[in-house]
Amino acid sequence: MIRPFLKWPGGKFRLLDRILPHCSTVPARFVEVFAGSCAVYLNVPAKEALVNDVNPDLIALYSCLQKEGEAFARFMQGFFTAENNSKENYLYLRSAFNAGRDARVRAAIFLYLNRHGYNGLVRYNRKGLFNVPFGRYKTPAFPAKALDDFLDKLAVTKTRFVCQDFRTVFAGLEKGDVVYCDPPYVPLSTTASFTTYSGTAFTAKDQEDLARLAEAAYTDRGATVLVSNHDTAHIRTLYKRAHIIPFEVQRFISCKERKRAPELLAVFRP
Ligand SMILES: C[S@@+](CC[C@H](N)C(=O)[O-])C[C@H]1O[C@@H](n2cnc3c(N)ncnc32)[C@H](O)[C@@H]1O
Repeated sequence: MIRPFLKWPGGKFRLLDRILPHCSTVPARFVEVFAGSCAVYLNVPAKEALVNDVNPDLIALYSCLQKEGEAFARFMQGFFTAENNSKENYLYLRSAFNAGRDARVRAAIFLYLNRHGYNGLVRYNRKGLFNVPFGRYKTPAFPAKALDDFLDKLAVTKTRFVCQDFRTVFAGLEKGDVVYCDPPYVPLSTTASFTTYSGTAFTAKDQEDLARLAEAAYTDRGATVLVSNHDTAHIRTLYKRAHIIPFEVQRFISCKERKRAPELLAVFRP
């Protein structure tokens, strides 16, 4: 399995053995609608791919890598120094990122923040400023091997990176597309807040729109559509016409404690 070079909340690397068997072996085009760290895209051997996420910082980083290749990887490595592994330099670089005058520098700092910030969190305040605190890791590793693997994947799969709301991506789907959707999880309780990765929350209406569009992409356009989420009564109602594959995952609820949590994959397949 190819490991993503970013840490990403809700990343599906550890669940690939549950997801990959339901993507057809070699789809003509693979579409990842909520890409995050690209865990699934990296491991589906498609000829063509469309990789989307609404987070512009993420897509800017992927686009710089696609444009410049190894040269950009080396540029990013320049930020991984012993001096930059201090709270002071972290806060300085975080401010430079938020001031964001040069798109290429900003994209490179995004990887530095991902590896040096607390727990690989991706969080922005109401003004859209990245506000994750310093992570205090002993020696944050530069993900050289994972970046090489990412560039190798770009070399064999004709990939288009886009930064759009998921509804726009669904409007452009074609017959035969294999589409994987990993939206922010539906909250498990009514008091839990909606997940936010880019300053805007993913609402109950968004979950409903996604379920409706996923079903329509299958019935009207002949696409295969897979959707991940928590296994709740509400999600089962939204995907009542899909084939439901339930499974349990280990979730960390603290540094020491783990809990088994029910998840599902809703599959619309011709
Ligand atoms: C659970 S994460 C995806 C994780 C990914 N599968 C991985 O393995 O790393 C959900 C992603 O959805 C993106 N997202 C949130 N709202 C969106 C929207 N309206 N349209 C497209 N992407 C959205 C977030 O930026 C986030 O990266």
